[in-house]
Amino acid sequence: MTESTPSSSGPLAGKTIALGVSGSIAAYKAADLTSELRKAGADVHAVMTESATQFISALTLGTLSRNPVLSSFWKEEGWQPGHIELADKVDLFLVAPATAQQVGNYANGLAPDLLGAIYLATKAPVLLAPAMNGKMYEHLAVQKNLETLKSRGVEIIEPVVGELACGYEGIGKLAPVDEIVKRVLTHQS
Ligand SMILES: Cc1cc2nc3c(=O)[nH]c(=O)nc-3n(C[C@H](O)[C@H](O)[C@H](O)COP(=O)(O)O)c2cc1C
Repeated sequence: MTESTPSSSGPLAGKTIALGVSGSIAAYKAADLTSELRKAGADVHAVMTESATQFISALTLGTLSRNPVLSSFWKEEGWQPGHIELADKVDLFLVAPATAQQVGNYANGLAPDLLGAIYLATKAPVLLAPAMNGKMYEHLAVQKNLETLKSRGVEIIEPVVGELACGYEGIGKLAPVDEIVKRVLTHQS
């Protein structure tokens, strides 16, 4: 797949965004998010965890972003690992949806996957949009990890209350795509 020419118009023109997608049922919303960010002018590079590929295909995110999708350390091409190249060049690292696993990895400096490695390697602002079962979200372990990340300057796009895929009603639903886009737009200058 060849790289796209970033759109030259829109409020995010000239911005390169790494969009991390992890293994939540909300991963399908990353398709819409990718499309909206690209339409706003951003050069979007989707990075998926192995679990995320169970929920949405790399083909979908690659087609909508018009860029190759990274999904494994072991499939990268070129002399420089693609995730390090991406970590260096992005203006923003957004993870939506971010699982409890991802939140825990970043809070603890773990890099078992591409997203953990990009989190540690990038100097760009980091935005996380967690999505998970409400009890998981409210668990002290997850809340402590989120506090740790906030104290390091990571911006959390809080999940909302609603019907959850696990059958419960409560907090934990991924923030609406337009809210996530709005938060990204605050980083446009
Ligand atoms: C149907 C289904 C839905 C899931 N949804 C979520 C979710 O919304 N949030 C979450 O933290 N984990 C969820 N999980 C569990 C994660 O997929 C699991 O913790 C996985 O290890 C996350 O890996 P990743 O962060 O590398 O993508 C779900 C699992 C299944 C089977």
